[in-house]
Amino acid sequence: MAETGPVPSLEDLDAALGGIDGKRILVRADLNVPLHGGAITDDLRIRAAVPTLRWLTDRGAQVTACSHLGRPMGEPDPALAMAPVRARLAELAPGVEVMENLRFDPGETADDPAFVARLIDGHDGYVNDAFGASHRAHASIVGPPRQLPSAAGRLLAQEVDVLLGCRDRPRRPFVGILGGAKVSDKLGVIGALLGVCDSLVIGGGMCFTFLAAQGHGVGASLLEPDQVDACRDLLDSGASLHLPSDITALGPGGKIGDPAAGGDVRQVGRDVPDGWMGLDIGPGTAAEFADVIAEARQVLWNGPMGVFEDDRFAAGTRTVAEAVADSSGFTVVGGGDSAAAVAQLGLADRIDHISTGGGASLELIEHGDLPGLEALRRGPTITR
Ligand code: 3PG
Ligand code: MG
Repeated sequence: MAETGPVPSLEDLDAALGGIDGKRILVRADLNVPLHGGAITDDLRIRAAVPTLRWLTDRGAQVTACSHLGRPMGEPDPALAMAPVRARLAELAPGVEVMENLRFDPGETADDPAFVARLIDGHDGYVNDAFGASHRAHASIVGPPRQLPSAAGRLLAQEVDVLLGCRDRPRRPFVGILGGAKVSDKLGVIGALLGVCDSLVIGGGMCFTFLAAQGHGVGASLLEPDQVDACRDLLDSGASLHLPSDITALGPGGKIGDPAAGGDVRQVGRDVPDGWMGLDIGPGTAAEFADVIAEARQVLWNGPMGVFEDDRFAAGTRTVAEAVADSSGFTVVGGGDSAAAVAQLGLADRIDHISTGGGASLELIEHGDLPGLEALRRGPTITR
């Protein structure tokens, strides 16, 4: 495990500044919320940022919040302006200023010192509460702590506490559930999870590369041919990996998200016929996965089991979500898509911890640390 230690808290920052009252504090939050037609479809991340913002304003700080929104690639994009986020935040944490989308400037992702200088200009202290972005060594995450007294906000501290607890002090049996499209994105975390989980359940698009590694036909399903060998090695490692035994597939001519386009939908076994596309785990698999989850004393779930936005391929994710909600164990759901699925199904309040981070929660599990935490721990290295 990486060498980790405590990061400064809001109380430490208060002490370092000789009191927060009247100080100008820059807060990096992860206000990267899903938008549809200019409206916020899930404000979880905005609500999650509020306790820290309130803690600061209640103590008399002048607070400026900043975040990225989407991936605008270093230039302004009106569709990704912060206006809707600013409006929502004004309702939840009045008096907090909100900067424009950080990624409108190429200096953000490049960690450009000139951009960092503009960000921190006029501020006395910095708070990182952007758990969901703390795996990015971007300017707003790693830049300010080099120069200003800094602290982790409440959300960042809590997420790290819960997730490192799962990783380093698991309640057993510990069942990991991974879904989502790409196995290549998750190979590292699969290896890390196999080291700490008692069993790992794999669904979503990534399961087809594993099924191919077992010698099954995957038809027109998502497949990463260059990852087949890596999947075979994981399968051969003797770890307890659960893969689908049946699949819900869409026949030739069908279109994802468009039932009117035709194409048959049916259950197939482990072998997906030529021309068919596996888009969800089948009902038998969903039941098997639910049985594994029912035995768990700790569950960590990241990534949907199928293309649940299309009702025809939502059943697997729904069954798994219900099994997680029914668990008497400690349950953690991370990642925008699985968190959204749980919210859509009305199960959010039956999950112990819904993480605001997708990639960040997986990287924290994999490495035991994040660039944003390292920066806070290291503290100022540049005197101004
Ligand atoms: C997320 O949505 O996972 C975080 O906000 C990070 O966004 P990014 O993947 O675009 O860096
Ligand atoms: Mg529970």
